[in-house]
Amino acid sequence: MTTNPPEQLLDLVQSHRVTAVIYVAASLGLAELLRDGPRTVDELASRTHADRDALARLLVALSTVGICSRVEGRYLLNELGAGLDGAAERSFKNWVIFEGSMLVRRWDGLLDSIMSGKTAAQLQDVDDNFDLMSRTPEHVRIFNDAMTDLTRLVTHDLLQAYDLSTISHLMDVGGGSGELIGAVARAYSTIRGTAFDLPRCADAANQHFRHLGISDRVDFVAGDFFRAVPAVADAIILKSIIHDWDDERSRIILGNCRKALPQKGRLLLVERAMPELPGPDDAGRSCAMSDLNMLRGPGGRERTEREYYRLLTESGFRPIAVLRAGRFNLTESRLC
Ligand SMILES: C[S@@+](CC[C@H](N)C(=O)[O-])C[C@H]1O[C@@H](n2cnc3c(N)ncnc32)[C@H](O)[C@@H]1O
Repeated sequence: MTTNPPEQLLDLVQSHRVTAVIYVAASLGLAELLRDGPRTVDELASRTHADRDALARLLVALSTVGICSRVEGRYLLNELGAGLDGAAERSFKNWVIFEGSMLVRRWDGLLDSIMSGKTAAQLQDVDDNFDLMSRTPEHVRIFNDAMTDLTRLVTHDLLQAYDLSTISHLMDVGGGSGELIGAVARAYSTIRGTAFDLPRCADAANQHFRHLGISDRVDFVAGDFFRAVPAVADAIILKSIIHDWDDERSRIILGNCRKALPQKGRLLLVERAMPELPGPDDAGRSCAMSDLNMLRGPGGRERTEREYYRLLTESGFRPIAVLRAGRFNLTESRLC
């Protein structure tokens, strides 16, 4: 790591190149090809139909960022690179595809959002980024699959952090393809579950529940959380939802959740907490970058613990506990 400021700056500004090489590795399926052991460049070129010399140079670049290593003329996958295998238990391939294909394009116009305060969608006269995304079904699929990867990373931490055993029916509002509610239902054999989201998530969620063998107690309900949330559960969980929206829209979602809950119900909010003053460390940088991703994407923001507390109380909830779950906070609230 260089300590020379201009060189540091050069490395920082070139970091998009790292995104590109990892994205190409994922697109070519290199991790799947290296799953069963090391291979030569010739073998990899023949399997991917890539230009041999260009692929050899890509592999060198990948080895410099820790994805693979060259040993005795063959390339083998490192632990980091194994996450690019779509079949790995903790695969992160779908997020890599999302980052390398959709997010890089979205970030390309960051200057316009900084100047106007508007999202990429608003700059195209579309109010809701999710509406814009739905015009390209392939984008919806890439996004939903990426969210599944991200959520899979944190479900274990969430299940460790919070005891859900006293909940009869948990509804995951904005539950996407059902990754989180599926993991909860698998961990608690008596709990009933509902994933509530836009209709476009129905097929993937129902297929996921069938695959897990939990369709008898977990269902998908389609709807719009700005209009209403169904009153079916004694607890609601919201993961990575409120950070998508500004305060006004967040209060509408939280208000609809409040209306849907019984008097003794509880709300579990799962979000990353923005440090009060993010430092130049991994955690600070990742939160600050996510905040800009929210600015450019759906129009939300990352918030501090204090800001979430205020939003919750303004929406009729009484936060009673904040628990740490990996990089996320789980805030438990009761109704006021
Ligand atoms: C950032 S994703 C989070 C998904 C999931 N909770 C997770 O953490 O993996 C936001 C989710 O909100 C859903 N969503 C967006 N607008 C919605 C609306 N008006 N009503 C219901 N769901 C909506 C999206 O379809 C998407 O699944």
